[in-house]
Amino acid sequence: MEREYWGSKMGFWLAAAGSAIGLGNIWRFPYLTGANGGAAFVLIYVLIAFTIGFSVMLAEFVIGRSTKLNPVGAFQKLKGGPWQIVGWMGVAAGFIILSYYSVIGGWTIKYILSSFTGLISPNTDATNYFLNFIGNGPQAILYHAIFMAITIYVVYRGVGKGIEDTCKILMPALFLILVILIIRAVTLPGAFAGVEFYLKPDFSKITGQTLLAALGQAFFSLSLGMGAMITYGSYLGSKKASLPQSAATVTLLDTSAAFLAGFVIFPTVFAFGVEPGAGPGLTFITLPKVFAMMPGGAIWSALFFLLLCVAAITSAISLLEVVVAYMIDNLKWPRHKASLIIGGAIFLLGIPSALSNGAVPINVFGMAFLDAMDYLASNILLPLGGMLIALFVGWVILGTAKKETTTEGEFKFQPVWIWICKVIAPLVIFIIFLNKIGII
Ligand code: PHE
Repeated sequence: MEREYWGSKMGFWLAAAGSAIGLGNIWRFPYLTGANGGAAFVLIYVLIAFTIGFSVMLAEFVIGRSTKLNPVGAFQKLKGGPWQIVGWMGVAAGFIILSYYSVIGGWTIKYILSSFTGLISPNTDATNYFLNFIGNGPQAILYHAIFMAITIYVVYRGVGKGIEDTCKILMPALFLILVILIIRAVTLPGAFAGVEFYLKPDFSKITGQTLLAALGQAFFSLSLGMGAMITYGSYLGSKKASLPQSAATVTLLDTSAAFLAGFVIFPTVFAFGVEPGAGPGLTFITLPKVFAMMPGGAIWSALFFLLLCVAAITSAISLLEVVVAYMIDNLKWPRHKASLIIGGAIFLLGIPSALSNGAVPINVFGMAFLDAMDYLASNILLPLGGMLIALFVGWVILGTAKKETTTEGEFKFQPVWIWICKVIAPLVIFIIFLNKIGII
């Protein structure tokens, strides 16, 4: 079987940005910012994204392009032995994250449709609406199934015709929708208070917890630590793309999308005098309440949830592709079989997540199943994976890393990058990890 490759550097960038820009940017980043004091959090986040985030992404691109294999195959080829476990953790994380990510993706589809059928109305209690919907088992499973079917279809079509072509259309569309929503938001009367909250840093709000939240968010948002960027890097055929330039571009696109999402959310909620630090309910509960007060609210709501849905689909594709690439490379399965069977299995694993939000009490370690899966992936598998990837590139394959990052010319920051991979990133990630699992 011939391995597939990206058709162009731009196609690769848009696919990688599609993986990175997701629910993490538009749903999670604004509520974390709201809960952590606004602009000061944004500043810290940007700093972390461009140092540690950029460095781990570049490390993943190096592993991918130098082996042209999925994460498991890549670690086997470069070193083997216990290092393979890092690849396995990545494949497992892809499987687990997609199972619940697709459930939330399904919510976005439901909310696009509901915008026109009663969600956006002064008579609707948005809190009850949300809780009733996610607590309705068959409905939650139905929308999870629809979201998974779309994801499977794209991956089934392949790297070029499926992933690349889809992202080339959806990513520009995403930025366009974002700009339209920003224009609407900042021209609302009273929007300025939101802009001020978002842009005026209050450094007294920065604590150790803020730093940790920003770090965890950077990892999830940049799709790091589980081999998504190894897999996408492995589809770079020729050496034409500069890896440092690619990592910088993707980091910039991802950070811009998150930053811009804040200009939709904060001006909108401040204009209507709603509390910005509402936590995870900010998008599915607070925003519909606000849209209901706006003229033409149904349309703005549909457009906003479409944005969220598009972002989620291009990320879900990359999660499925990690597992599918393993089946194709290592087990020699044809792509069609791999996408259908793996996609189907992930759909099944997602069912308990879909049911665990009120329909059926499915709890693991005292958390709803969906939250437990998110905890396992975001707090354990991703940071651990990211730490090991940085160490691997910094210590085990340093020669390859130096070569791969200079194929298209000089890489000025190479010494800094190597130092971050060797020491800083592993150390910092280890500290977050201990904190997240409650040891410090
Ligand atoms: N980066 C995606 C988001 O922000 C989530 C993701 C994590 C995708 C890990 C792939 C791998 O929503």
